[in-house]
Amino acid sequence: MSNNIESVLSEDRVFDPSEEFSANAHVKSLEEYEALHKRSIEDTEGFWAEQAGDLKWQDQWDQVLDWSDAPFAKWFVGGKINAAENCLDRHVEAGNGDKIAIHWVGEPGDTRDVTYAELLEDTCKFANAMKSRGISAGDRVLIYMPMVPEAAVAMLACARIGAVHSVVFGGFSAQSIVDRLGDSEATAVITADGGWRRGGVVPLKKNVDDALAKYDGVKTVFVLKRCENDVEMQDGRDYWWYEETADASADCPAEGFDAEHPLYILYTSGSTGKPKGILHTTGGYLTYTNSTFKYIFDHKPDSDIYWCTADVGWVTGHSYIVYGPMANGATQVMYEGAPNFPDWDRFWEIVAKYKVTTFYTAPTAIRAFIKAGDEHVDKHDLSSLRLLGTVGEPINPEAWMWYRDKIGGGRCPIVDTWWQTETGGIMISPIPGAIPTKPGTATRPFFGIDAAIFDESGNPCGPNEGGKLVIRKPWPSMLRTIYKDPERFKETYWNEYGDTIYIAGDGARTDADGNFWIVGRLDDVLNVSGHRLGTAEVESALVSHDDVAESAVVGRPHEIKGQGVVAFVTLKGGVDATDDLKKELRNHVGTEIGAIAKPDEILFADRLPKTRSGKIMRRLLKEIVAGGEVKGDTTTLEDHEVVAQLKEEFDKAVHS
Ligand code: WTA
Repeated sequence: MSNNIESVLSEDRVFDPSEEFSANAHVKSLEEYEALHKRSIEDTEGFWAEQAGDLKWQDQWDQVLDWSDAPFAKWFVGGKINAAENCLDRHVEAGNGDKIAIHWVGEPGDTRDVTYAELLEDTCKFANAMKSRGISAGDRVLIYMPMVPEAAVAMLACARIGAVHSVVFGGFSAQSIVDRLGDSEATAVITADGGWRRGGVVPLKKNVDDALAKYDGVKTVFVLKRCENDVEMQDGRDYWWYEETADASADCPAEGFDAEHPLYILYTSGSTGKPKGILHTTGGYLTYTNSTFKYIFDHKPDSDIYWCTADVGWVTGHSYIVYGPMANGATQVMYEGAPNFPDWDRFWEIVAKYKVTTFYTAPTAIRAFIKAGDEHVDKHDLSSLRLLGTVGEPINPEAWMWYRDKIGGGRCPIVDTWWQTETGGIMISPIPGAIPTKPGTATRPFFGIDAAIFDESGNPCGPNEGGKLVIRKPWPSMLRTIYKDPERFKETYWNEYGDTIYIAGDGARTDADGNFWIVGRLDDVLNVSGHRLGTAEVESALVSHDDVAESAVVGRPHEIKGQGVVAFVTLKGGVDATDDLKKELRNHVGTEIGAIAKPDEILFADRLPKTRSGKIMRRLLKEIVAGGEVKGDTTTLEDHEVVAQLKEEFDKAVHS
């Protein structure tokens, strides 16, 4: 991948949108983008007030932004709004109740089309079911679901009654559920018996049971029947979704909540300790996801069929499956299973069947498709596509070009969208009818976003100088805090350049045309297949195993996943370093966190390289796994030989 960094630096291919695309786009030229962006920075509050006007407010706000207690922002102060009403009722009331909201495809091949009217009815019934089990505004509800329409219903039902959802990705383990329940103090869980993945059933309810054996604050569990696998139902705690909703009323008035009422908590990895609970609130978040969806996906409600392949367990699923598209009244595809089940053409079969126009996926998936071979793509007619998107990690120019040529037929603009769980919505991305694209750059900031690159002393870097990516103005969907930890919020994002400069944690540079090139995380956060993973999290999972004395985890370039996980482990005295133990440790990490965190490589070491004060020298470990010479200064090492030894170990392991 280091070659890709080289090619990124010298990339000079530029692709303008076609005249036809621009002529029909919401924003039609670079000049128009630049004028609008300029205005949105000069009068940010005016711009967002206008954007918020697209939504239905039950009470008008009296102040667009209160930044007096920076970095704690309040948007649309005094306004009252219901997110579910904006995503559902508004469209039904406008006469679009029969419009398909979701073309759903189950992994085994079953399908369902759900209209906006049906989604509204299901949401109201489920919201009433939750109410009758005593769940009310402000309560935290953990959602652990497969990719079925009811996942969106569960989220929207929470939003409707003001309960705060916290979705946990279905690939995370029981232990991850325990950690998130403990931090959010959730009192209810919404899950399913199972979900289909690569022909097998993921035992979601069983994982919830295992978690609840270790956490006793949950009073109510709703269980959707999806796979008909056997599950245990605990009397007085567990209830079947279909039974609870059978007689529930479809009338559930959408109460207006304060614009700053919490909408959800989503846990994401940081550089230290356990995942942190990113808190998003209602009015600003919905305004931002509504506008970015409209402009960045150039959404046309009457003709577009949109498909985002993310899972609702990640922020991409929150903002660009549920809230953004549904606030826009979009028709979208939702798919339950794996991209390669039963074969590698599954996605393209779905694109052809539903005539998808707008397709949003991750670079990891694109690289996996390239590897699987073009024949899978060639089988299907992809001519309905008009716009492509990527998210989650830097995209290498080869993958970008393949995506453009092979999937987009050379005619579809690609929006490479940079953003984070914390930002709530897309921050840097081409506006596709207006901004010329280049492989590897997310191009320009969205309206109202004042992005910059700062050097160590807080001065803006010049073109092509690498530095830290910062945002200099607040924006409506910014995280409001880390749940229950305002100090950590301040320290993590606002510490270096003052209380009003948001530090993203990514390294980046701009080119002479003002395009932003994101290089990657500057902290100890890995990006594995587009998923964030803290090295500290994996390390603490490893040392929680009885045989492990110490561990250090670093990332290394990986052809498909972007980054792979390498763990250096020292064992306790008397424990044998066997291949079986390696396997056991990988599985242990799977149990503690989830399959995505399993190290690609575990290396046993007698010692880890440390400074005289006892700090593990990660920089050296990174150099070892990067495969080149270890150039770092080792003079401060207790034992110089350790590095040579580890390097030999690593070379042996990767070449065996
Ligand atoms: C990385 C996902 C380069 C980045 C929405 C960021 C990207 C982290 C891009 C956030 C992109 C995301 N180009 N890098 N287009 N998109 N990233 O919170 O390092 O899961 O900080 O949010 O992913 O990951 P998260």
